[in-house]
Formats: sequence, structure tokens, C-alpha cells
Amino acid sequence: MKLNIAVLAGDGIGPEIVAQAQKVINAVATKFNHEISYTPALVGATAIDQVGDPYPEATHQICMDSDAVLFGAIGDPKFDNDPKAKVRPEQGLLAMRKKLGLYANIRPVATFPSLLDKSPLRKDIVEGADLLVVRELTGGIYFGEKGRSEDLKKAFDTCTYTTDEIERILKLAFAYAAKRNKRLTIVDKANVLATSRLWRETAQAMEPDYKDIEVDYMFVDNAAMQLIQWPKKFDVMVTENMFGDILSDEASVITGSLGLLPSASVGVHTSVFEPIHGSYPQAAGKNIANPVATVLSAAMLLESFDLLEEAELIRQAVNKSLEQGIVTEDISKEKPYKTSQVGDWLASYITG
Ligand code: IPM
Ligand code: MN
Repeated sequence: MKLNIAVLAGDGIGPEIVAQAQKVINAVATKFNHEISYTPALVGATAIDQVGDPYPEATHQICMDSDAVLFGAIGDPKFDNDPKAKVRPEQGLLAMRKKLGLYANIRPVATFPSLLDKSPLRKDIVEGADLLVVRELTGGIYFGEKGRSEDLKKAFDTCTYTTDEIERILKLAFAYAAKRNKRLTIVDKANVLATSRLWRETAQAMEPDYKDIEVDYMFVDNAAMQLIQWPKKFDVMVTENMFGDILSDEASVITGSLGLLPSASVGVHTSVFEPIHGSYPQAAGKNIANPVATVLSAAMLLESFDLLEEAELIRQAVNKSLEQGIVTEDISKEKPYKTSQVGDWLASYITG
């Protein structure tokens, strides 16, 4: 197969971790005879510094013209510490999601058998946990009207959802549940929010079309508690943009490191594959960041083109590396490997 991949490495550790994912994709391409080409493009703080725009039009065109996007991370503390900054790296990520129509973010969370003791949660709680967070990605409070009053003493962010937006994400979540263990938890705050009540109403109207799926509704505060108390209760969890952002970071605790979790953002145009973690600026350039989340995002990328054997081999390589302790310092303080060493090890495992 021929694939054109846009590479948006972004900020902080982005370039280092993306480079490892590319090594792994190249190894798979060699082994299975695929032809992969990469087109790098600017995004985030790097793009602001170079062209003054966190998601330049040229980058958007490259994404639109590619088969998939491999994304690193964005964010830079020099913007976080300046509340008055007019352009922010995060706006680049949000603009990309909106312009590519990426309304669904798929975040699988499963424990790795060899890392059960890395979770701060008890082994009997996390062992065998395997869930999927489906996060709505182009609506809600992230994209609603926002602003400040003239005297600057009031600020507001509005949460808005339409039935169409809710229906399309729920449809996808039902489909994932059908492929998995046929349980769907819809997370909202319907006891307080009008948007949540619309989510619930829409979901209830859809339920009869999915009779084999067991649906339950849970308030987000309760879900936050149950997720770490009984993670095995969950199969597919679907929720709005901000709740999904928060719950998926929380869910990473189950696996032991935020550096392990991949994601796929899918929708209308080109899909984007990215780790769920951020740009980890403290580690930038030090060759210490965990590349596994990005490598597993590359596996999701290949899977989206039905390259199932290829994706499985990447996951097998990752599992082997974790078992054998070929891991970065977030997982092993005693004998940490460098980012690039993990990438090299995974690539040579794959080529055999
Ligand atoms: C994520 C990130 C982003 C988000 C930030 C960087 C804007 O936290 O992808 O989860 O909140 O969506
Ligand atoms: Mn997040």
C-alpha cells in the first residue's frame, strides 16, 4: 500500500517522539512492502514563532492532501504564563480539529500486563481493565462563544451542542460498543446542564436502534469516581468535549503512565493520530520522553487502513519492550532507556 502521511511534530517533545513512530512505521513498511512518504508541516508554538499562525493554511492544505496525519504535541510554557497572549499554540490544535471536521476522538485505555505494578491503583482494581473513551471533539465549551466584559471583570465560555452533533458522535460510540463488549456508558451532567439533557434525550431516542447494546447514563462526577474505583465496569464511554478531555487523562492513571496512551481523531476529512499527552516541555530535547503513546498512535493509523497485521505487530513489539524493560524513565527510574533507544529497539524487533 502507498500512504502519504503528514507529519505535524509540533512543540516540546513532539519531534523526538514522532521520530520514533516514523522509525516504527518505516520498519513495518520494509517488512510488509508498503510505500510510505512523509510531508512535514508546522503547527503549534513552532508555527507561531516561524509564521505567526499556530495552524497555517499551508499546513491545513498538507493535511487535506494526505492520507493521514501523525501528530506529536503542542504547547509551550512561554504562552501558558502569559494570560494576555493573543495567539496560543492550543488554538492550532483546535483549528486543525475544526477544519478537518474531526468530531470524534477515540482513546483506548487498556492495562499492559507487565506494568500492573506501575499504576498507583491496586493491581486487583486495574488488572484486565480495557475501555474506550469516545470524546466529542469539535463542539461544546471549547468552541462556544467566549469573551470578556468591557470592564474585564467578567469572562464567559458557552457550551453549545446541536442534536446533529450529538447524534453523529453517539452513532460512532454505539458502533464501537457493538464491536466490543456491547456496553455503552453515556457520561453527562444532565442534573444541571441543558446540553447534557439534550445528549440524554438524543441518546434515549437512539436506544431502540441498538437493542443489543446495554446503555447506562452516568453523571460526570460519579463517572470520575467509578473510573478509578472500578475501571473494569466500563467498556465504551462516550461524552462531550471537556468531560472527555478530563476523564481520559484520569483514565491514563489506570495504565501507569500518560506516556502510553494513543488516540485517533476521526471525522469528515483526514484523520489525525496523536498521543493523548502534551508537549512535556521540561523534557524537550533530552531524549527521555516515552515514545510509546505515539508509536501506538501509529498502530491506530495503520489499522485505519485495514493494515491489521501491521498494527498488531507494533503492539506486540511494544508489549515485548515493556516486558523486557526497554522503557523510558517514566516507567523505570532504575534502568531507563532513551527515547531513541526505545524507537530503535521497536524498529529492529519489527524487521526481525
Ligand atoms: C488534548 C489536549 C488538548 C485538549 C489541549 C492541548 C488543547 O489536552 O488533546 O487532550 O484539551 O483537547
Ligand atoms: Mn487533554
